[in-house]
Amino acid sequence: MPSPRNRPLVAWSSVLGVIALAILAFYADSRYEASDLRAKAEAMTMGKVAAGQVAFGKYSCGACHTLLGVSGANGTVGPPLDGVAARGIIGGRLANNPANMMQWIQDPQHVSPGTAMPNLGVTPEDSRDIAAFLYTRT
Ligand code: HEC
Repeated sequence: MPSPRNRPLVAWSSVLGVIALAILAFYADSRYEASDLRAKAEAMTMGKVAAGQVAFGKYSCGACHTLLGVSGANGTVGPPLDGVAARGIIGGRLANNPANMMQWIQDPQHVSPGTAMPNLGVTPEDSRDIAAFLYTRT
């Protein structure tokens, strides 16, 4: 038994212990959520999220679109792409589903002639990976 003098110390260390556990649980939960989102996005598109992030940089999509946590993605010409996974319509015209997302990324000028998003020569494979990457942004 701790002496009465030490009791406040014991009480404080249990409070700190509980806080530390809560922080750990929160961290583990958000890690789990992130990997769950990645798995869902890859299953939907059959693309690879990590490769999609690389391709997003390669085609300089961030010159026109913001995306939190992606360096250089601070363009304001197009809409922000955070939350794009939760939007109903993309490019003002297409229902938001993986096939349409890939079509838009490869050929926005065909979907919406004259739109300010240019065709960037994105290959079908890259568009698949980029779609996977974007669908992690709920
Ligand atoms: C020169 C600027 C520019 C570049 C580069 C660009 N975009 Fe866009 N993007 C736009 C604009 C403008 C829109 C809105 C078009 C519209 O609604 O007609 C748009 C729309 C989109 C949308 C639909 C978003 C929504 O909510 O409707 C997606 C997804 C998208 N772009 C992805 C990409 C990807 C991926 C790349 C790189 C391969 C890219 N964009 C490169 C300008 C750009």
